[in-house]
Amino acid sequence: MKKHESQPPVAVYGANGPWILCEDGHKVLDGVSSWWVNLFGHSHPYIKEALTDQLERLDHIMLAGFTHEPVVELSERLSKLSRLGHAFYASDGASATEIALKMSAHYWRNVGRLCKYRFVGLAGGYHGETVGALAVTDIALFRQAYAPLVQLGAVVPSPDARQAGPGENAEAVARRAATSLESFLEKNHADTAALILEPLVQCASGMAMYHPLYLQLARELCDRYEVHLVMDEIAVGFGRTGTFFAHEQAGIRPDFLCLSKGITGGMLPLSVVLTTDAVYEAFYDDATARGFLHSHSYTGNPLACRAALATLDLFERLNVLETNKTLAQSIGRALEPLAQHSRVRNHRQLGMIWACDVESEMTGFSDRYHREAMKRGLLLRPIGNTIYVMPPYLLEKADVEHIGHAAYDALSATLKGENE
Ligand SMILES: Cc1ncc(COP(=O)(O)O)c(C=O)c1O
Repeated sequence: MKKHESQPPVAVYGANGPWILCEDGHKVLDGVSSWWVNLFGHSHPYIKEALTDQLERLDHIMLAGFTHEPVVELSERLSKLSRLGHAFYASDGASATEIALKMSAHYWRNVGRLCKYRFVGLAGGYHGETVGALAVTDIALFRQAYAPLVQLGAVVPSPDARQAGPGENAEAVARRAATSLESFLEKNHADTAALILEPLVQCASGMAMYHPLYLQLARELCDRYEVHLVMDEIAVGFGRTGTFFAHEQAGIRPDFLCLSKGITGGMLPLSVVLTTDAVYEAFYDDATARGFLHSHSYTGNPLACRAALATLDLFERLNVLETNKTLAQSIGRALEPLAQHSRVRNHRQLGMIWACDVESEMTGFSDRYHREAMKRGLLLRPIGNTIYVMPPYLLEKADVEHIGHAAYDALSATLKGENE
């Protein structure tokens, strides 16, 4: 709040496609899809039309004892895409994490393994900031103040490919990290319910990318040690990494899959946890206490489900995964000058996520870069010294060029102020 005295929040009047229209007449390209949610830019007419139609029929109905077409159809379609046939809905990513963790621990309780209620995650993992989700979010700043409230999960090394030593490649880092996971599970499997991770890209800790081999090895280890594998695809699902779900690149299936953010194309809040028949069956009982207990007023909200259905339609109609291949290449080309900047290290790209690290000791680099980019009509918010671009999937050629130029110029301008 104090910062806002010198940097007031930008008042936004409207938004259309990738462009945000500010009250002062300034136009800014949304280079981070508004925290990774607006997959097709803002106000996509097809999603708007679906929502208008839904508003005329049914706004909301509680899902306890009632059901409706959008939630049934969405569950069927997500189940086909993920090969996980059971869905539980909430409204935000952190709640999806809570649900997956609770469901995993409750599963073990229902099958008589009462000691299995602890969790393990990756170093630098981010899974939301509610008290339960903070247990597996390994970002010191977010959990320091709340640590006494949290039953902290265990942390194993991240397979972040940037940790490669001389002569090592991303695959070798993945193997090394999996060996640490193996030692952990060997000792702790008796009380570990689940391993939770963000597949392929740990976004919030600075777009740390890793080799899919880690996911294969983690799957094998979880099977061997009877530990659930929870994939948090809240940020990387829905085509962001090039495949519809990131874990597809490892050819594996998780026990729980958490989705949110892009699920409604950024129109309405919605999240879902998908799971297996085996988990479902452990809760199938006459006793309410053996059922999964997580009452949420807005669960399966019809409007949000309808927006999600329209989003899935757009994937098919616009052949998104295919067209994104070309778009991702042109984004990579447009950002090549930034990648080659003398102060830039580790430039990397996976599908529609591009990132690089800037060598600078400057305090407040992220803030300064953000302001310089905004001046140039581009919304980017570096994480520490990591500049990243995670744009909407519908961009004109000129938009892509704009991203390339503004991202580069903003860095030059930021570094000019280095000694101020
Ligand atoms: C991987 C991941 N999990 C969970 C969350 C939390 O989602 P929400 O902000 O909707 O609670 C985020 C948000 O950035 C995320 O990136």
